Amino acid sequence: MSKYLKVDYVNLGLQFQNLEQEITDKFVEISSKGSYVLGEELKDFEELFSEYCGTSYAVGVGNGSDAIFFSLLALGIGNGDEVITTPNSFIATAWTIINIGAKPVFVDIGDDYNIDPNKIESAITSNTKAIIPVHLTGKISKMDEILEISKKHNLYVIEDSAQAVGATLDDKKAGSFGITGCFSLHPLKNLHVHGDGGMVTTNDKKIYNYLNKVRNHGLVNRDECEFWGYNSRLDEIQAAIGKIKLPYLNQWNEKSRKIAYKYTENLMDNVGVPIDKDNEKPVYQTYVINTDYRDVLQNHLHKLGVETKIHYPIPIHLQESAKKLGYSKGDFPITEKQSSRILSLPIYPEMREDQIDHVIKSVNEFF
Ligand SMILES: Cc1ncc(COP(=O)(O)O)c(C=O)c1O
Repeated sequence: MSKYLKVDYVNLGLQFQNLEQEITDKFVEISSKGSYVLGEELKDFEELFSEYCGTSYAVGVGNGSDAIFFSLLALGIGNGDEVITTPNSFIATAWTIINIGAKPVFVDIGDDYNIDPNKIESAITSNTKAIIPVHLTGKISKMDEILEISKKHNLYVIEDSAQAVGATLDDKKAGSFGITGCFSLHPLKNLHVHGDGGMVTTNDKKIYNYLNKVRNHGLVNRDECEFWGYNSRLDEIQAAIGKIKLPYLNQWNEKSRKIAYKYTENLMDNVGVPIDKDNEKPVYQTYVINTDYRDVLQNHLHKLGVETKIHYPIPIHLQESAKKLGYSKGDFPITEKQSSRILSLPIYPEMREDQIDHVIKSVNEFF
């Protein structure tokens, strides 16, 4: 029997400890200046973020949900419109569509946990306006196929890149494929600030200009309001933290990938593991295994100190909140089947080798 070793699912404090001086110095500088919203830090971070993603623009917003919501608003999507997305996501993806007055139309996933492009066309109607693929687990969806369908049917593609800052497909970054890319900088994301935060990337100047206003009450300047907007900005302190962290992101993502590949190599005989293609570099926001024995395995790991999570145990179409959409059990068999089999193992760049080994040993021992 493995000995007990504590392996937290995440440990955000470790990342802070490594950057403590830089972050506290910046906090003191911003606080002394007293410039807290829509200042130089945000401008700098937006510029660096867009450069990093390979897009012309980036706009900081209050959170990842608003990044998607504002994208839908910018495209004029609303009442009577339909937006295709996946039921295998954090509920925010569907919430944004509902909140704008449109209808989320779900499409089942493939074995990469992302939307299956082969099933998209049959879900398109004359009301369909957009597709929101979600790059779940930090792996980019099948964008070639999705973009081809979107062109054929004249649909917008909004990327839910909340879990995928820095992920690439054919060397192109998440957030640079669609009309907008929507990112969350929530503490549990691979690039995170110290609270809520979000970012929208785009190459479209009109959308960029709109986003700059809609996040700030629709104001064009201090006194003139062009339209009714929202208060959802990325604060200076959060932007400064993002700016400090972004240069480290590639090496963090690389470390996560190394952990993932070690897991894959050592666990593939006992559980289903993610397999990457040569042309993709996922960022492993989550490392998801699948097995028929998920619940007992989770319990076994817990007893040995290994904390795990499930992303997500209830597909969105089966949530109480989604009842009015009229979906029922059996509608998306692949999503439903995996939701009872998946388990997310701890993965973060600061994980120690003995912790990684303990996770592997504990899983294998179970089988
Ligand atoms: C796939 C996905 N979409 C959207 C969001 C929403 O981001 P936020 O929590 O920053 O609003 C998240 C974050 O949890 C997410 O994982």
